[in-house]
Amino acid sequence: MSEAEQDTVNFRVENRIAWVSFNRPDKRNCMSPKLNRRMLDVIDELEFRDDVGVLVLTGEGAAWSAGMDLKEYFRETEEKGLKGVRHSQREAYAWWKRLRWYQKPTIAMVNGWCFGGGYGPLLACDLAFAAEEAQFGLSEINWGILPGGGASKVATELLSFRRAMYHAMTGENVDGKTAAEWGLVNEAVPLAGLQARVVEVCENLLKKNPVALKATKDAIRRVREMTYENAEDYLIRAQEAANSFDNEGRKEGIRQFIDDKSYKPGLGEYDLQKQKS
Ligand code: COA
Repeated sequence: MSEAEQDTVNFRVENRIAWVSFNRPDKRNCMSPKLNRRMLDVIDELEFRDDVGVLVLTGEGAAWSAGMDLKEYFRETEEKGLKGVRHSQREAYAWWKRLRWYQKPTIAMVNGWCFGGGYGPLLACDLAFAAEEAQFGLSEINWGILPGGGASKVATELLSFRRAMYHAMTGENVDGKTAAEWGLVNEAVPLAGLQARVVEVCENLLKKNPVALKATKDAIRRVREMTYENAEDYLIRAQEAANSFDNEGRKEGIRQFIDDKSYKPGLGEYDLQKQKS
């Protein structure tokens, strides 16, 4: 029986955390056109929900994602000619782009295999935590292509030149621990403790001012490509734009520190609950 598009992605919302998972465990969660379409629908639905404060992207079973589906994404779309190829590329790239500029903070929780095309959503997530047991690889060279779909760009964004070159040219995998040392992910912890660590990070993020969080994550992505002067200017404008959505937040942050002396910004966040809307 053919796989239902609906079933290729699982999601649930618990305590303001949206847990979204690649759900093709029998196929090591490789990304088919159906999965790519479904993923965009799911993240679109979750993006502005009031009960969602952070999104975690993970995988069912032993894989995070074994990259693009060699059969359904490559072979079968190539049979449809250039139009088919471009169409399915756009479906994949669309949800990665949506995640890169997502309204809510996003975390990749890499529980297992992460290959090739999986590097697109990996970079798209703001933060990434891996199981020490996970395996990361640019396997494209092993089956005769270059790391496309943004994967080469992800490698050079996150790794040193030498590491990116070695990783891409040899097709050798690294485990979660090495991925953390290399900067592909923030941290690696044993698989048994991975979810607990991610929940801890989510709980931290959920306490922050959400307007400031969105402005911050966009700023960190944008300024990397700017000169210092341009970045300085962009950051002034970005803060002023953020003020038009939430002009009271930072005033409250100042008030609780300077007047109430109820917290220290160097040691933690101000209490969002005390903010008058
Ligand atoms: N595309 C299509 N099918 C894939 C796939 C992919 N990227 N990755 C796994 N699968 C399928 C396998 O063909 C197999 O299907 P079958 O049960 O119908 O035979 C099923 O998923 C299970 O894979 P299998 O190889 O038996 O699992 P494993 O646990 O022994 O090995 C991997 C896991 C991830 C090491 C291995 O599946 C693999 O190398 N996958 C390709 C990774 C890759 O190069 N991705 C880059 C694409 S850009």
